[in-house]
Amino acid sequence: MAHHLILLSSTILVALLILSPPTAAASPVLDIDGNPLEAGSQYYVLTSGRGAAGRGGLTAEPDLYDGICPLYVGQYYSWTKQGSPVSFHPADPSQTQVTLGEDVNIAFGPSYVCRNQGVWQLGTTTGEVFYLTTNGVIGNASNKADWFKIEQAAFGPGSYKIVYCFATPVTDSSSQTQRSENCQQFDSTAPGPPGSDWSWLSFVPIDDPLPFFGFVFKKFTSTSTFLNPKFTTTSSYS
Ligand SMILES: *[C@@H]1O[C@H](CO)[C@@H](O)[C@H](O)[C@H]1NC(C)=O
Repeated sequence: MAHHLILLSSTILVALLILSPPTAAASPVLDIDGNPLEAGSQYYVLTSGRGAAGRGGLTAEPDLYDGICPLYVGQYYSWTKQGSPVSFHPADPSQTQVTLGEDVNIAFGPSYVCRNQGVWQLGTTTGEVFYLTTNGVIGNASNKADWFKIEQAAFGPGSYKIVYCFATPVTDSSSQTQRSENCQQFDSTAPGPPGSDWSWLSFVPIDDPLPFFGFVFKKFTSTSTFLNPKFTTTSSYS
């Protein structure tokens, strides 16, 4: 019996290998329940570390010095706060799942206050500090600052890095100019305004182990609590 089972499973494996299209090299990103991350669905971005070893979820918050808009991407300090869900939109709009290492827009959803889609966009301050605004748009390949990647983190299969890659021209030994990528990942390293319970996301080196063991994605359902309606999000995002 065991022999038959092994034979059966290897037959299935071979069948799966044959059935997989040759271009299916990209693995799906998985949510916290082990299901592929669905394009367009909403997910809380939480941490793999739990309790004191973790942090809170991501949230769209104003820099109080600038007024309410634009909102910036922050992370709650406390594990008890799930923040606001985001949706993921692959560069290839026919893709129904989010895959590792491929360009994706990340959106909190429409902000009625700021009159935008709440899409993450890399910004800089005059001091060359990078931060994330929510001034992006979904699906415009020309807007390089609006595209991110999800990469595997070292801690377990379901934990991830959120990455931004700068395309930098590199001249190789034969003087051919080629595109190369300089990628960095996000961590919340800059404290929010005084008295706030979040910090801003900014860059850390791509290979740094994240103190909270990586990000995880928990599917938002209408029964989920902790949605922060304060500034931006709505669950009826389409
Ligand atoms: C995409 O972005 C570019 C650069 O910001 C802009 O010129 C162009 O009009 C945008 N395309 C669409 C379809 O909105």
